[in-house]
Amino acid sequence: MRVLIDVLGSQSEELADLYRPPRLPWLRVNMVSTLDGAANGESGRSGSINNAADKAVFAALREQADAVIVGAGTARTEGYRVAAVPLVIVSHQGQIPENLRDAPAGKVLLATCSSSPGLDEAVAQLGADNVLVVGESQVDLAALKDQLVARGLTTLLSEGGPHLLRDLFDAGAVDELCLTFVPRTIGGVHPRIVMGDAVDADLELAVLLENDGTLLGRWFVRSS
Ligand SMILES: NC(=O)c1ccc[n+]([C@@H]2O[C@H](COP(=O)([O-])OP(=O)(O)OC[C@H]3O[C@@H](n4cnc5c(N)ncnc54)[C@H](OP(=O)(O)O)[C@@H]3O)[C@@H](O)[C@H]2O)c1
Repeated sequence: MRVLIDVLGSQSEELADLYRPPRLPWLRVNMVSTLDGAANGESGRSGSINNAADKAVFAALREQADAVIVGAGTARTEGYRVAAVPLVIVSHQGQIPENLRDAPAGKVLLATCSSSPGLDEAVAQLGADNVLVVGESQVDLAALKDQLVARGLTTLLSEGGPHLLRDLFDAGAVDELCLTFVPRTIGGVHPRIVMGDAVDADLELAVLLENDGTLLGRWFVRSS
């Protein structure tokens, strides 16, 4: 991995140092894209566009995270399984993806809203402590961030997907976007890394790494 830009001045080539959060609490979102903007490949998963360099950063970010926040759509499509740190599944419907229904207590949290049709069943499956009801008709993502921080989970990593990233930007909950550009174009019809209604996020580049043509960046959200 070659360091092209490092305005944080970590003076290190170790991924763990290059990806250290500058302060806490800190919420970052990690995504991968082809050069023509596809957020998934022909399999319908990001696994068909990512590569070894992206996987190395994915692992380094998970290593530093206190919790991983993921949209229910991504958890379903990508077949998420229990991880070393708690997984926070964000869902309007309140449905816990099948793979995660038998998770050990506290390994899976559900973030949903009080009007969620699946709320009662989720409470029965996960236990009331592990179901975060944030908002009435929509999940309030800023309140979710606050609740996770109040539980001592201060380094937060979201792994998307595109609709959740859009809503996290809209809620002002994102501190950093980690984005890998793999050196491929694939054409076709694929989601971009941000999907849904328009949202304008103003970002500044903090770190840029290169590995065999793959560009891996850290962009910080400019505070207004
Ligand atoms: N390139 C990348 O880095 C990357 C990363 C992740 C995913 N992906 C790809 O993206 C695709 C999935 O896209 P997607 O946009 O559908 O993913 P997504 O945002 O994870 O899933 C959308 C679903 O997640 C829940 N959700 C998202 N935002 C929510 C919010 N603010 N409040 C309540 N619930 C919310 C809802 O679930 P309910 O229906 O349960 O209410 C919604 O239907 C897959 O192909 C996946 O492989 C790519």
